Amino acid sequence: MSRMPEAIVSDREHAGRMDRMYRTQRHIYDVTRKYYLFGRDTLIDGLGAGSGSRVLEVGCGTGRNLALIARRYPRAKLYGLDISAEMLISAEKALAGRNAILKTADATDFNARAFGVDGFDRIVISYALSMIPDWDKAIDTALDALAPGGTLHIADFGQQEGLPPIARRILTAWLTRFHVTPRAQLMTVATAKAHERGMTLETTTLGRGYAWLLVCRRP
Ligand SMILES: C[S@@+](CC[C@H](N)C(=O)[O-])C[C@H]1O[C@@H](n2cnc3c(N)ncnc32)[C@H](O)[C@@H]1O
Repeated sequence: MSRMPEAIVSDREHAGRMDRMYRTQRHIYDVTRKYYLFGRDTLIDGLGAGSGSRVLEVGCGTGRNLALIARRYPRAKLYGLDISAEMLISAEKALAGRNAILKTADATDFNARAFGVDGFDRIVISYALSMIPDWDKAIDTALDALAPGGTLHIADFGQQEGLPPIARRILTAWLTRFHVTPRAQLMTVATAKAHERGMTLETTTLGRGYAWLLVCRRP
């Protein structure tokens, strides 16, 4: 595992907010989020990352997903970025002994060349768009970093469209405490962006709208 030295972070205020929250949270993050960040394992199952595939996780946090991806797809090449240098301390530990490259960077302002590659075969954004203020720019940036034939896999909170209103209100209030805003326009915006680029998009709803999964495919 190696940590690339230079940081590319354009939104310093947001980076500071994330670092303040995760400085302590990162120690209990994986245990406390195990069940409520639902759909992450389904996303990993669907990656189909073959030998030599370059797999990037945007907003990789503690490295929980990348560590599972490494186990599931041992021949893939792993890359991770996060705006929180604090989170990357945990990710470094989770990926010790793996051949992964981690970088402090902003999801709205990175490119594949900064990682020494010309594109990624798989890009994962798991429960990060709901925390990124300029989330639609993060989708553009990820789509632009896909190699031909590559896929972008997104998991995030849905609109809880099949849950009772009281459950929706409680969940929304709880998530706000953690700077999380489920993106009501996620499917519409991602579909438009994929189609603009001649890509296809598949969507899946889990747990009555608790979580949404999206896969954009570059031809
Ligand atoms: C809820 S955590 C999800 C972590 C991991 N993807 C998972 O599924 O467990 C969201 C992560 O997104 C990161 N993040 C938030 N805004 C970001 C941005 N603009 N650029 C990169 N990472 C960002 C946070 O620092 C945090 O690590």
